[in-house]
Amino acid sequence: MLAQGVRRFRRVQATVMLGTGHHWLPFTQMNAPEAHLRRFVRGEGSWLYDEGGARIFDAVSSIWTTIHGHCHPRIAEAIAKQAHLLDHATALGASNPVAEALAARICALTGMGHAIFASDGASAVETAIKIAIQYWQNVGQPQRNRIVRLRDAYHGDTVGAMSCSNIALFNQRFSAITFQTLELGTADIAADDIAAVIIEPLVQAAAGMRTVSRHRYQPLAEMTPLLICDEIATGFGRTGTMFAFEQAPIRPDLVVLGKGLTGGALALSATLATDRVYDAFLGEYGEYKHLFHGHSYAGNPIACAAALASLALFDEERTLVNALSLTACIRRRLDSLRLHALVRDVRAVGTMVGIEVHADRIDARGAIGPAWRIADGLYRAGHFTRPIGDVIQLVPPLCAREEYVDAFFDALTAELGP
Ligand SMILES: Cc1ncc(COP(=O)(O)O)c(C=O)c1O
Repeated sequence: MLAQGVRRFRRVQATVMLGTGHHWLPFTQMNAPEAHLRRFVRGEGSWLYDEGGARIFDAVSSIWTTIHGHCHPRIAEAIAKQAHLLDHATALGASNPVAEALAARICALTGMGHAIFASDGASAVETAIKIAIQYWQNVGQPQRNRIVRLRDAYHGDTVGAMSCSNIALFNQRFSAITFQTLELGTADIAADDIAAVIIEPLVQAAAGMRTVSRHRYQPLAEMTPLLICDEIATGFGRTGTMFAFEQAPIRPDLVVLGKGLTGGALALSATLATDRVYDAFLGEYGEYKHLFHGHSYAGNPIACAAALASLALFDEERTLVNALSLTACIRRRLDSLRLHALVRDVRAVGTMVGIEVHADRIDARGAIGPAWRIADGLYRAGHFTRPIGDVIQLVPPLCAREEYVDAFFDALTAELGP
């Protein structure tokens, strides 16, 4: 009986296809060669190692997640230690000391009062939207149920987050299931049906590192609707300060964190609220004022332990100081790159960089697009980046050395040609 079971298991195993056959990659045409070109088997610091043994600079911090580098021993140890103590316990009606410590730490860092956890960024955005909607119900203004967003906004790929986003290529095909949102600049944010304004502070990363000048946020300084700051991409030092909203004239009611919260090691996101917002959810049980939202892995102790280790590293490794020297290096290199005939525009805030190329002047030479041809060449030169449309992005891990960033620009300049 046992031998039969083992034989069946071996047969099943033999039919399992290796490589990307079974692994469906997000935002990737699985028919295109790019789906099968890159396979990483190890990471260390700013480097990823592919199965061919090539050492590749992670020039996008694995989509803006990695902060202190891959497999940082301090974070790996915190994960291992916590995994032996308490792996998971639901946060639905129960707490744990690691999630409590992390909530206290991120509230202190942001000036918020309370944190509720999720896993991906989009889930935390959904949480923020639902907090905003239920907040106004709880305080007796249920007509406030509309959300205002920026032009070209991006807040994630779940349906609520997508509804607050405005990148046609991502959204259009799902218009039947998304809800209508309004655009900042054209919407009347003083209207009494507005629940919240959601913004990406300073940089709209997914829109191709579009920068938003600080004065655009001025109208949000004094307003009645709730202000949701989505710091999923910009948080944890990427724009030079711990959070981008610190550089704008605004005081958020809700802050959304994700990506770099664990230093990039594990999926963890958080929605933070002020006392004013949180207090509106208190009442007798039968009033049903408590938040009607939650995820199974909310407050996962292993992920929270990783996040606490990552936050400690900001002090121990003077991460923001290194980010400043990377920023200076980036500025220097962009100054000369902006004069290149194939470069249409360069944009940067801190270490979040977009280099928009003149796609019409670049021969794609069989790649899936002109910018992809550049990215493919960069990969062959040992740098991993992923274009956003015509924009080559550079978002290095904050532990990277200036020489790595310099090498990226050298390779990019070589790839663009004279
Ligand atoms: C500003 C912003 N918000 C939300 C998200 C969604 O985060 P996740 O991909 O973790 O769901 C992203 C992802 O890129 C983002 O850049």
